[in-house]
Amino acid sequence: MEPFHIPPEAVALCDYARISAERLPPMVSAWLDGAAADGVTHAANLEAWSRIRLKGRVLADMRGASTGLTLFGQDLEHPLLLAPVAYHRLAHPEGEHATALGAAATGTVMTVSTLASERIEDIAARAQGDLWFQLYVQARRADTEALVVRAEAAGYRALVVTVDAPVKLRNTEARIGFRLPEGVAAVNTAGMPGPELREIPGRSPAFLGLMDAAPRWEDIAWLRARTRLPLILKGITAPEDAMRAIDLGVDGLVVSNHGGRALDSLPASAAILPAVAAAVQNRIPLICDGGIRRGTDVLKAIALGASAVMLGRPQFHALAVGGARGVAHMITILRAELEVAMALTGCRDLTAISPEILWSSS
Ligand code: FNR
Repeated sequence: MEPFHIPPEAVALCDYARISAERLPPMVSAWLDGAAADGVTHAANLEAWSRIRLKGRVLADMRGASTGLTLFGQDLEHPLLLAPVAYHRLAHPEGEHATALGAAATGTVMTVSTLASERIEDIAARAQGDLWFQLYVQARRADTEALVVRAEAAGYRALVVTVDAPVKLRNTEARIGFRLPEGVAAVNTAGMPGPELREIPGRSPAFLGLMDAAPRWEDIAWLRARTRLPLILKGITAPEDAMRAIDLGVDGLVVSNHGGRALDSLPASAAILPAVAAAVQNRIPLICDGGIRRGTDVLKAIALGASAVMLGRPQFHALAVGGARGVAHMITILRAELEVAMALTGCRDLTAISPEILWSSS
């Protein structure tokens, strides 16, 4: 691996994506940049944001402009969050520690995955900034509970429960024979057995055990009763599911198709978000992810009803190229782009961003 530094030609998130693909082992790139099946949803995510047109506004009073917000009681400088992404050691020998350093330097909340390659206690002990914990419900409830207890004790500020990927179909990974290299593992679930699978030749494990152990609504009700942390469900695409989550008392939703890595043929996040926002009616905050690569994409997501956005692949691209400084630089770029986009649409703060700034709706 080449030494980590910020190449002068890295001026936008797409540059980090390109350079990381040149540097990372092909197997890691296939895993990182790949998606489910044919990648229809991933491609749609990227395309849909760019298809939305903005309405420029001039001569607005932008003095004292700000990108700040309060989310689940936390004051944040900007609405850019790091999505949970597994195995950061695949990009950097310091793994999640490096990402956390870059996040803290830019006032960015990092969501640490259940599948992190460093211990969640160690990440929290070294991190300077705010961390959220992403929970994958485990086959045994005692193991799920142990993860929640550990995250609470380590000082994680919110619990993000990912519910959209109990099973998956990843042709890109299968073609290249993706497997974790020596020294990279899901250390936080060590000793936690996966679901018991029945093997029948010619049949997939989906209906032979995986879905038996997949989380259900009753698990969300249990978690709600079990933790006082803000509870956020990640992977909501149907307005009906959003309503059910609100009924169970969740504090927020991540409107997400898992970066196109779960059910291929889901619509783009930009298409899903307005439908979920219309159902939720501001009762709880919505966070949106999937294909956000430009400040204008962030602006559009907020205009369509999001309070904040999450970045998945871009954090990994930046980590692979520039380490902690790369992650900080990536966020700095995106924040600067958001500020330019807000300035040119006359939005002084995030609350001023409304559907009015979208060309088609005005
Ligand atoms: C993910 N994502 C993910 N989500 C999650 O809840 N837990 C996880 O461990 C992971 N791991 C993971 C690995 C890789 C390589 C990718 C690309 C994604 C999904 C992630 O949180 C987020 O929803 C998407 O990545 C957002 O889309 P973009 O920004 O990558 O387009």
